[in-house]
Amino acid sequence: MSWRLRPSSVVGETHVPGDKSIAHRALMLGAMAEGRSILRNLPTGADVRATASALRQLGTLIYDLEPHLTEIIGTTLHVAEDPVDCANSGTTMRLLAGILAGHSFNTVLTGDASLSRRPMRRIIEPLENMGAQVCAEDGHAPLSIYGDRLHGIVYRLPVASAQVKSAVLLAGMLAEGKTSVYEPLVSRDHTERLLTASGVAVRKAQDWIEIDGDQRPSPLRMEIPGDISSAAFLFAAAAMTGGSVCVRDVGVNPTRTRFLGVLEEMGAIVRIENLREVCNEPYADVTVAGSVHSSITLAEADVPLLIDELPLVALLATQCHGTTVIRGASELRVKESDRLSSVAKLLDALGASVQESMDGLVVRGPTRLSGGVTLTSEGDHRIGMLGAVAGLAAQGESFINGTEAVAVSFPAFADTLRMLGAKIDSA
Ligand code: S3P
Repeated sequence: MSWRLRPSSVVGETHVPGDKSIAHRALMLGAMAEGRSILRNLPTGADVRATASALRQLGTLIYDLEPHLTEIIGTTLHVAEDPVDCANSGTTMRLLAGILAGHSFNTVLTGDASLSRRPMRRIIEPLENMGAQVCAEDGHAPLSIYGDRLHGIVYRLPVASAQVKSAVLLAGMLAEGKTSVYEPLVSRDHTERLLTASGVAVRKAQDWIEIDGDQRPSPLRMEIPGDISSAAFLFAAAAMTGGSVCVRDVGVNPTRTRFLGVLEEMGAIVRIENLREVCNEPYADVTVAGSVHSSITLAEADVPLLIDELPLVALLATQCHGTTVIRGASELRVKESDRLSSVAKLLDALGASVQESMDGLVVRGPTRLSGGVTLTSEGDHRIGMLGAVAGLAAQGESFINGTEAVAVSFPAFADTLRMLGAKIDSA
């Protein structure tokens, strides 16, 4: 699939799909709870569908009661007859591996070509330390997990990764004794918040989380807030084109909002209104307006707090005066594509001044992005959406190929942009 983009601005208000990170976790906790959980606004993207279908294979009953209303009947997970396909979703594979490590049967987790290239040793090591056995060729999927009675551990994460942290915590919940995790830098904390909301004992300080073993979550009732990482593309579209976009009911968990701070530091106007909370997760109506002009230098501690928005930071930087430096971001090389390389290629094709380093990007601006080019998503949903936003701000017509990848997180992305006034259509 391809899109054609023409210069245009975006103005208006909208909703975005439910938060993907929260949705994976809510489904998994619901599957392990005893009783009936109800989730409203579960996103329909392929990643979250992969988690739901994996849990069904493991014996969980999941029903769509009405559009956007899902019922989960928790149960004791049982052996899956076939390999469980995690598709393109790293969160599905890594978090499920944590849960399956504490179940005494064998499960094979597979994924698509991109997921099969992503590093899994980071979860294999702690889960084996806890007593599970995980076979994987060269640290990559498919993973064959032999679960067992686990014991709690103290684990220092070698990388700041919420997925690895969550895998260890979920295994810790099923283990004997306490499990503590130390993070090198604070990463998204949805697992900790949802565990607490479902009655599981979790203690937390700045970079330390501890969970008691032998626990089972209580059923959840939750309306899943909008995904700020999806909203970020609409906010960036506003800031790149001098528009104004309000996204209603979007998650504003402080471990996910660093991008809003970046937009403000770059010169855009950001307004957060109607702040509320559901299951310990704050959400609000967020408006971004105006345009960006000031370059920034990110600190390393910022990186996990806007890991999925870093491609957008680089795009916005093309419109800012001076040099924007992103560093300490080598994790971007092991996402759905090598995002440092994908972003550098895409911005370079548009005539921006961008330099790729081992662990980041350096962008000099401002540059008027040139159109007349055909970009590619590299099979990566966030790069597909990045290209579309860039195309709205470029001169003349541009195209992006491989946009079917966008359905992983935001199937209605093009329709939403068009509704806000963007000139985007199928090519
Ligand atoms: C996620 C954590 C991040 C993020 C991914 C979702 C999660 O990955 O990039 O999109 O839901 O825990 P890492 O934890 O591997 O950095």
